[in-house]
Amino acid sequence: MVVLTHPILEPGPTLLREATELRLLPNQYRHPVEALRKAAEGAQGMVTQLMDPIGEEVLRAPGLKIVSNVAVGYDNIDVPTATRHGVMVTNTPGILDDTTADFAFALLMAAGRRLLEADRFVRGGAFAGWAIDMLLGHDVSGATLGIVGFGRIGRGVARRARAFGMRVIYYDEFPATPEVEQELGVTRSELYPLLSEADFVSVHVPLTPATRHLFSSKEFATMKPSAVLVNTSRGPVVDEAALAHALKEREIFAAGLDVYENEPQVHPELLKLENVVLAPHIASASVKTRSRMSEVAARNCITGVRGGRPPNLLNPEVLDSRR
Ligand code: GLV
Repeated sequence: MVVLTHPILEPGPTLLREATELRLLPNQYRHPVEALRKAAEGAQGMVTQLMDPIGEEVLRAPGLKIVSNVAVGYDNIDVPTATRHGVMVTNTPGILDDTTADFAFALLMAAGRRLLEADRFVRGGAFAGWAIDMLLGHDVSGATLGIVGFGRIGRGVARRARAFGMRVIYYDEFPATPEVEQELGVTRSELYPLLSEADFVSVHVPLTPATRHLFSSKEFATMKPSAVLVNTSRGPVVDEAALAHALKEREIFAAGLDVYENEPQVHPELLKLENVVLAPHIASASVKTRSRMSEVAARNCITGVRGGRPPNLLNPEVLDSRR
């Protein structure tokens, strides 16, 4: 039996139903841990989403073989504990890179050129005719983009930036190879020089203890007053209270956010500001990509339940312990 903690898109449910008995949990955004624990009892597989905290209570369920997350990020799952209990964990990498990079770029442009503010301005009836100084933003073309976290999505953003004539620098603790740097026309920088040089900063790191609040008061103070911050990674990478303060005090020019520290809540101070574009965690939300994520998560789960090695296995050590 496989538990689906939230609905997924076709062909995911059909594939799962063809392979096994499927149980969909009652509709609830945040299932209490106790409900997840109970759901895991008697299940061989669980298809989970980023709002499901999967820790010891769930992972120790006897017979549970696999937790398949419908996301590339998997900070909601305690992977070492899963490994200890012999439970495989999978994610959906490589499918949503372009869709997410497109959206990061959309946020970058919207924030830099004040697109949402302009829309509110027109709808509010404030447009009284062309004016030389109306809603002035900052150029994307020719600007310097600093990419923090240079994995697949960060690299996708770099490719788009090149087409806009941007200069691209990146920070990642693991440098890309010289070939990749050359192909993408990017240069590695340390974090603080990047923050002080970049006109736009786009964040693409996973959430780990090391990246929690990677962006806070000190980092905003290092950025240019004309700089724009874009976050499509995970909310807690940015200290939201410090960001709201920096935006309000014009320490930085604007921000574009798709993710929040305590989703679905958004810091109340951010909601009051004009110079931040707010999206509801939809960077990978295209019909094609979300369907494909659902399909891949279903296939990972089915393979795991049948005792095989799922293609996107995050903790291959579990297989060693079974031998
Ligand atoms: C979404 O945020 C994901 O990690 O896929």
